[in-house]
Amino acid sequence: PFTVELGRSGRTVEVAADESALTAVRRELPGTAYSCEQGFCGTCQHRVLAGEVDHRDELLTDGEREDSMLLCVSRAAGDRLVLDL
Ligand code: FES
Repeated sequence: PFTVELGRSGRTVEVAADESALTAVRRELPGTAYSCEQGFCGTCQHRVLAGEVDHRDELLTDGEREDSMLLCVSRAAGDRLVLDL
């Protein structure tokens, strides 16, 4: 489990071990777009403002990984991420 902070509102969501960051974020922001939920379409890519990401997709380039993540498959490497959402 880890915490995602929504940087624009300062609100936080808890991501349980058995759910994706996308699922957790959508509890607060139901309009958050997604499609494949398997890490290959890029619809759920968002900027990461702080925190280390455990990237679990095969889509993003190394450059993109430096400041963004795919919410449907990737997780926090630590206990907290701050997203530009
Ligand atoms: Fe397709 Fe996340 S929904 S990559």
